[in-house]
Amino acid sequence: MRTPMVAGNWKMNKGLYETRDLIREMYPVLHAVEGVEVVICPPFVGLGVAKREVEASTIKLGAQNMHWADSGAFTGEISPTMLKELCEYVILGHSERRAMFGETDETVNKKVLAALAHGLKPIVCVGETLEENQSGITAEVVSRQVRADLEGLNQEQAEQVVIAYEPVWAIGTGLAATPEGANAVHKDVIRPILRDMFGETIGDGMRILYGGSVNPGNAAELFGQSDIDGGLIGGASLKAESFIALVKAAM
Ligand code: PGA
Repeated sequence: MRTPMVAGNWKMNKGLYETRDLIREMYPVLHAVEGVEVVICPPFVGLGVAKREVEASTIKLGAQNMHWADSGAFTGEISPTMLKELCEYVILGHSERRAMFGETDETVNKKVLAALAHGLKPIVCVGETLEENQSGITAEVVSRQVRADLEGLNQEQAEQVVIAYEPVWAIGTGLAATPEGANAVHKDVIRPILRDMFGETIGDGMRILYGGSVNPGNAAELFGQSDIDGGLIGGASLKAESFIALVKAAM
C-alpha cells in the first residue's frame, strides 16, 4: 500500500554538465519506471538543468536543503518559493546539516512547515550517532527527533512527508545497519510515533526510507523488510549503474 521510494542524495557532487550527463545515462531505464518513485536530489545549481532533463518522465526531483522564509536578507540561502518552481521534494535535517551547519530539530521543524505551506514534500532525516547507538539510546533519540521535527503538522500535511531513518554511523562508512536492526527502528520506534501523532491510517501510510551505505549488494534485503519503504542513497546514487540497481531492488 506504500509506494516504495528510492531517492538519490548527490550531496555536494556534480556540476551542470555532469548532472545532465548522469541523468541522461540513467534515463533510458528510469524514465518510465513503475511501482517505485524515483527521486534525484542534485545540488541547487543543477536543479534547473535536471528539470529540463526529466520533464517528460516519471523521475522526480528534490533539493537537499532549504531556508524557511519566503524571501529576504538571508545571503546564500534558497527559499521554498524558489524550490517550488524546480522540484517536488526537499531533504530536510540531513545529519550532515545537523552536524556541520548547526541545524536543530527546531530549525528542521520550521523548514518542514514552510515546505508544506508551499506544496513541497519534505524528506525528513533522523538518526542516532555512533555514541548514542552504543549508549543504547537509539529509540529515545529517534523518537525525540521525529516528534520535534513533525510538531504542529496536521494529518493532511503529514501525508506529504517521507521520513528517512539514517543512522549517522552508517552514512558513507560502508557499514549499513542490518536489515532487521533498521526495520526494528522503522517498525517499533518510528511507525508507532507516526500513528500516535497522526492516527493509524495516516501513520501506516507514511513512507519510512532507510539511508546509510545502501548498495546494490544489500538493498534487496533492506527494502524487503516490512517497514523499510525504500532508501535515501548517497554514494551509490552517483553512478548510473548502481542507482539503477537500487531502483530495481525496490520494485
Ligand atoms: P551513503 O549516504 O549512501 O553514502 O551512506 C546516505 C545519505 O547520507 O543520505
